[in-house]
Amino acid sequence: MLLILLLLVSHSLLLSPSRSLAHPVDKAIFILAGQSNMAGRGGVINNVWDQLTPQASSPDPTILRLDANHRWHVAREPLHRGIDVNHTCGVGPAMAFANSIIQRHPRRVGVIGLVPCAVGGTNITQWARGGWLYGQMIRRTTAAVRDGGTVQGLVWYQGESDTVVKVDAERYQRRLEKLFLDIRTDLQSPMLPILQVAIASGEGPYIEEVRQAQMGVDLLNFKTIDAMGLPLEPDKLHLTTPAQVYLGEKLADAFLKFLPTQEEPNPTNMLIHTNNAPNVLHFFCSYATIIIALFFVFLH
Ligand SMILES: *[C@@H]1O[C@H](CO)[C@@H](O)[C@H](O)[C@H]1NC(C)=O
Repeated sequence: MLLILLLLVSHSLLLSPSRSLAHPVDKAIFILAGQSNMAGRGGVINNVWDQLTPQASSPDPTILRLDANHRWHVAREPLHRGIDVNHTCGVGPAMAFANSIIQRHPRRVGVIGLVPCAVGGTNITQWARGGWLYGQMIRRTTAAVRDGGTVQGLVWYQGESDTVVKVDAERYQRRLEKLFLDIRTDLQSPMLPILQVAIASGEGPYIEEVRQAQMGVDLLNFKTIDAMGLPLEPDKLHLTTPAQVYLGEKLADAFLKFLPTQEEPNPTNMLIHTNNAPNVLHFFCSYATIIIALFFVFLH
């Protein structure tokens, strides 16, 4: 009787839901959205990219990018080519972000899937639900998860275009919060981690007002990384390549804080990627169960 009970416990451990996540094609998917500094203008001067990719942003076989035709390729800069089609794209923060996560957590995060969606010069109202940018972002994310993977986060860097007109800066916080909540609702991921970059520059005078709005957002699973003070290109609007690398690493630091400190899978947050941890855990659980079972058989 006891033996049957132990076998049942062992069986249920082996079939726990976290196991279904441990599939080799699982990707940790990140949505990249916002305007030019998210798309990347590092190394772009007079609409020409210098073609220099720093080591921290170099390609890696475990970092993929969803192209404009919804196909995966090994990611390389400029990540937003073919997406931010009307501008010259350069280095952004996302390659340094992904490399940093892979290097520090090679076992937890198996493959990263980047979904670039940013478009230069866009303001917050253009990103509202119902608009083209929003629809495109949701369509691309839906395509990204189709062949395996979990959306692990949204990286959002936008607001420079909302510094021109005072009323836009005043309404920024409400519009931004609504956007984040709409994204979480439409992706059916109410606790989706969101990493926001507070702007370092703007197209108009209301930079401080937009920054205050960004700092005022109060949501769970939400972190703000401040880009103020990072080096800018001569246009005084766009982060340089070294600034983007620095920002990408800061974003990775912030993302890793969302992960639980223990290797044990956390059943209350299915967004946490558990690629290898469950295998090890299940192995030890079933192993321990067999030993206990043998012990009881021996006693009888
Ligand atoms: C690029 O420009 C064309 C023509 O102005 C416009 O129709 C299109 O929406 C733009 N695409 C993006 C991604 O901004």
